[in-house]
Amino acid sequence: MKVLTILGARPQFIKAAPVSRVLRQEITELIIHTGQHYDANMSDIFFDELNIPKPDYNLGIGSGNHGKQTGEMLAKIEEIILKESPNFVLVYGDTNSTLAGALAAAKLHVPIVHIEAGLRSFNKRMPEEVNRILTDNVSSLLLCPTETAIQNLTNENIKDGVYNIGDVMYDAVLYNKTLAESTSTILEREELQSKDYLLITIHRAENTDDVDRMKSILDAFSQIADKKVWPIHPRTKKKLEDYGFQLDQIPNLQVIEPVGYLDMLSLEMNAKKIVTDSGGVQKEAYFAEVPCVTVRDQTEWVETLIEDANILTGTDTTKIVEAVQKQVSPSYTPVFGDGKTAEKVLALLKEYEN
Ligand code: UD1
Ligand code: UDP
Repeated sequence: MKVLTILGARPQFIKAAPVSRVLRQEITELIIHTGQHYDANMSDIFFDELNIPKPDYNLGIGSGNHGKQTGEMLAKIEEIILKESPNFVLVYGDTNSTLAGALAAAKLHVPIVHIEAGLRSFNKRMPEEVNRILTDNVSSLLLCPTETAIQNLTNENIKDGVYNIGDVMYDAVLYNKTLAESTSTILEREELQSKDYLLITIHRAENTDDVDRMKSILDAFSQIADKKVWPIHPRTKKKLEDYGFQLDQIPNLQVIEPVGYLDMLSLEMNAKKIVTDSGGVQKEAYFAEVPCVTVRDQTEWVETLIEDANILTGTDTTKIVEAVQKQVSPSYTPVFGDGKTAEKVLALLKEYEN
């Protein structure tokens, strides 16, 4: 059996690490890296530290408007599918790389396996929501991380090939947590004390591309006295420069370059609280039982909202500040699988091979 995996963006490298490790024990996997993320600290660092097999194809597409970026990927992925004739095309999540891979495969009648199927924010202004809905609609195997995802698909009358296999990001955390604890030196490097800082990540287009929303978020950071560390996504860095916002005016804020996964796990586990708009980081906060504040109007990861483990504030300054100050002590309920999701992917691929 030959599986063609499409990767392109940071969270997809992290999701692929546990899955590729298991798939390659029994089947042939080829990887296409679309090049959507290309900075060393957004791409290579994850391949190196997580031992993800080197991509067989590197498309080098880079950044661009949605149509151009997705269209260029589509054309190049199609050529590779024609050349390689895989049994399955495997895509992760909801990025433009996901959609391009799914569309190319659908047109060539190659069955698509969608890992992290069924998530919905019910906000079609998010590029991710469009990518997920379209991908789910052309997928043969819809591998859902949660019961909520299954229910979302049922509501859209998508029932065939749908399985709750748990979340591959939980596999990744379980596999790497101890390694992160023993090898990461990020706290020393950044002079941080455990449980004495807030960890911030912001990159969602609905926030970064809206000057008012960004101002509102930054106003909240100015009002929060705690030490704050912010590994800044290149998209956000660029947008804040365009807007002329001065991050060095915000008290007690340490802006750093994006970090590798092991450093990120260490930053998350040792944070007092996490403020984010990332999908993956919301879950990792919950796995680590660190309180999270999500500066979005919706979340796909509704399970994390239990007992205010994750508080959804939108970008309202006061709501963010209040949520950060609220005392909560989350405890993880195992709703994201058993950490053996990758094994379930392999088992289903074998079952569906024809
Ligand atoms: C993409 C995904 C988003 C995911 C995020 C993970 C889409 C539509 N969005 O958003 O769902 O949550 O990845 O991080 O697919 N840039 C660099 N260097 C890089 C990569 C990006 O400088 O290596 C800058 C460029 O200015 C680029 C901008 O970031 O224009 C946005 O990159 P892009 O991949 O288009 O979207 P993300 O915001 O990263
Ligand atoms: N991450 C990382 N370094 C960083 C920021 C995030 O390794 O500087 C990891 C994080 O731990 C999680 C994943 O990247 O596993 C989340 O990706 P991102 O926030 O870019 O995208 P999303 O999950 O929102 O799609």
